[in-house]
Amino acid sequence: MERFFNTAGPQTPDSYTIDPLSRFDLEDILLMIRQQRYFVMHAPRQTGKTSCMLALRDYLNKKGDYIAVYANVEGGQALRNNAESVIKSTCDTLAEQFSGIVGNDVPLHLRDEARKTETGSMLTTYLRRLSMALPKPTIIIIDEIDALVGDSLVSILRQIRSGYADRPKAFPQTIILCGVRDVRDYRIVLSNQDIVTGGSAFNIKATSLRLGNFSKEEIHELYLQHTQETGQQFDEACFPMVWDATEGQPWLVNALGREVTYKMRENRDRSVRIIPEMIDKAIENIIYRRDTHINHILKLLNEPNVQKVVLPVYLNQENIDPSISIEDYDNCVENGIINRERGKPLRIANGIYKKLISNLNVDAKTT
Ligand SMILES: Nc1ncnc2c1ncn2[C@@H]1O[C@H](COP(=O)(O)OP(=O)(O)OP(=O)(O)O)[C@@H](O)[C@H]1O
Ligand SMILES: [Mg+2]
Repeated sequence: MERFFNTAGPQTPDSYTIDPLSRFDLEDILLMIRQQRYFVMHAPRQTGKTSCMLALRDYLNKKGDYIAVYANVEGGQALRNNAESVIKSTCDTLAEQFSGIVGNDVPLHLRDEARKTETGSMLTTYLRRLSMALPKPTIIIIDEIDALVGDSLVSILRQIRSGYADRPKAFPQTIILCGVRDVRDYRIVLSNQDIVTGGSAFNIKATSLRLGNFSKEEIHELYLQHTQETGQQFDEACFPMVWDATEGQPWLVNALGREVTYKMRENRDRSVRIIPEMIDKAIENIIYRRDTHINHILKLLNEPNVQKVVLPVYLNQENIDPSISIEDYDNCVENGIINRERGKPLRIANGIYKKLISNLNVDAKTT
């Protein structure tokens, strides 16, 4: 089958791909693992977090010094504040993943044993016993950590913290928390209305790494994979347009590639050369259709706290409204809507988001 531009979830062998291991500093991460560090990896939606973490897991297991697993706790979102259920389902997910990697039932039996303890310490107990039973130090990647809220999230963080000192013999060597927000920084509201920060619940001197967007060279490399696969050429003048529209946001880059080479049916004839007018049309199409990522950004842009930050930046207004909180800015930065670079004015992250905002403006004016 012809390979394709993937716009639906993590990369597969069929997708045109930038090597996920080249997208972060692998040496740095290996060093942190050797130093038994726990850390946060975060990036806006559809940046490639999951693809990178799955590749890291496979790399580590192949290298063979550790047993590495990936666990997605997104299921906990439905359970919301019910810490008991979240802890149980996290232990279940870990048990299945570990069992799959080590190829036996030991992680499942240990989970059954750990289930006899109360949920307030079940995860700690499980990770402790598992780490002692397995022949190599363990590494756990917990993805979608910020799908969890309130008491559930705090329970997970506290249970991780309480075994931390016993690593790597009796607790995982490294735990990586992966999500959109930097869990260390955000404020968590408990069911009794107390507020704690992720940092104080985690309370481990953890670093956080942010996964970036594609560079101009990587966009070229990705589109060239299509040319190599099919023979279809891109006019060189297309590339600055793709850059302005996406600034390397991985989903947008793929969505444009897919639109212009596949969804625009006349271009399925691979002898058609892709020219700038077609890129313009493709941009319009993906905005109009409101696929996954566009829809997600539009939902955010409809939130009053996001609009408060984004509209003045869009309009290049210099005066910062003092009623806007730091959290509101952080929220927009962590969701990748605005870029904040040292010494530079805030700006909207890419041309497509600018168009989404300008449409919002029109809506606001006409209502
Ligand atoms: N290595 C890569 N090479 C090319 N495109 C990529 C790569 N990684 C991610 N992408 C693009 O980003 C999209 C999202 O990938 P992935 O699901 O790994 O990201 P994510 O950050 O985990 O997303 P989410 O926030 O939805 O969980 C893919 O569908 C693809 O369009
Ligand atoms: Mg993901």
